[in-house]
Amino acid sequence: MNASEISSKLESARDLATEELAQITDSTSLAELDNKYLGKTSIYSEIKRGAKDLANEDKPIVGKALNVYREAMLEIIEKKSQEIQEKENQVKYESERLDLSSGTHGRSHGHLHVVTQMKRELEDIFFSMGYSLSEGPEVETDWHNFQALNVPPAHPARAMQDTLYVDAGDGEQSVLRTHTSPVQIRRMLAGPPPIYTIATGRVYRNEAIDARHAAVFHQIEGLAVDTNITLRDLRGTIETFMKRFLGESTRTRLIPSFFPFTEPSAEFGVSCPFCEMSGCRVCSHTGWIELGGCGMVDPNVFEAVGYDAEQVQGFAFGFGIDRIAMLKYNIDEVRLIFDNDVRFLEQY
Ligand code: DAH
Repeated sequence: MNASEISSKLESARDLATEELAQITDSTSLAELDNKYLGKTSIYSEIKRGAKDLANEDKPIVGKALNVYREAMLEIIEKKSQEIQEKENQVKYESERLDLSSGTHGRSHGHLHVVTQMKRELEDIFFSMGYSLSEGPEVETDWHNFQALNVPPAHPARAMQDTLYVDAGDGEQSVLRTHTSPVQIRRMLAGPPPIYTIATGRVYRNEAIDARHAAVFHQIEGLAVDTNITLRDLRGTIETFMKRFLGESTRTRLIPSFFPFTEPSAEFGVSCPFCEMSGCRVCSHTGWIELGGCGMVDPNVFEAVGYDAEQVQGFAFGFGIDRIAMLKYNIDEVRLIFDNDVRFLEQY
C-alpha cells in the first residue's frame, strides 16, 4: 500500500466511525467503538505497526495521516462521551429526585400534637360560649401562684401541689407555676369585670413520674366574674361545656371538695363516656370520671386583686388537658403523650 491508499483507507474508516457514532446512545457501545477504531486490532494500529516497512518518502505522510485520524477520532468520541454522560446523569438525577414540596416520599406530613389539638378543641368550645383567652408566664411569682389565691406562705394547702422553685436572681420568690390559676389573678389585675375568660398552658409539679403523673402537664382554667353570678351559673357552664365536648347524653356532677381559692369548692365529674355509666375499667366501675376542680371565687381572692367582694361574684374551674385527651382517646399512660414517639403521635 502506498501513502495515498493508506490515507483514503483511514478516511473511509473515519466516515464509517462517524456514521456508527451517530447511532450510539450508551457508554458501553461507545467504548466498543473506541476499541474498534483505535484499539490494538483497529485499522489505525495495523497501519501504525506497518509504518516502519513503508518507503521513506511515504513515512511522514502516513505519520501525519495517522495523527490526523487519531486526533479526529478522539475528538468525536469525547464529544459523544459527554453527551452520553449528560443524558445518563439526567436519568440518574430524575430517579433520585426528592420532591420536597409534595411531602409524599413514604413520610408523613406531620400534624399538631394531640395535646395541642385537644387544647384548641377546648378553647373553641369556650370561645363559642363567649369566653376570651388570657395568658400568663410559666415562671410565676409565689404571690400570683399562691398568695393571691389565698394560699399564704407555710399554709398546709401548699402541700397539695409539690412546687418547683426557681431562683430568678431578683430576690423575689419565683416558682414554675403549679396550675393555671395564677392567670385568674393576672386577668383580674388587668381590668375590671365583667370577665369571662379561660387560660390554657403548661404547668409544673415536683412529681415522681409514673403512668398517671407527669412533672410537666397542661391545664385549662376558667374564670367568670360579674354581678349576680351564682353556683347555678357554674353548674350550667360546666354542663354546657361537657355536653358539647363529649356529647348531648353526657351528665355532670359536682361533689363538695376543698380548694383555697374557692368557697364553696367542688370536684366536677362526668358520666363515663365509655360504658354509659354501667361501669368499666376506665371509670373504676363507678360510672363517673372526676375531671377537675371548681367553685365560687373566694372573697379573699377578690380582695387580693382589689375587687369589692360585696359587688361582684365569680366562679372558677380548672382541669387537665392531658387527662381529658387520655380520656377521649382511651390512653392509659401519660408518659406516651410526652415521649414524642412518632409511632404513637401519628395515631391522633
Ligand atoms: N388549680 C387547681 C389545681 O391545679 C384546679 C382548680 C380547682 C382550679 C378549683 C380552679 C378551681 O379554678 O376553682 O389543682
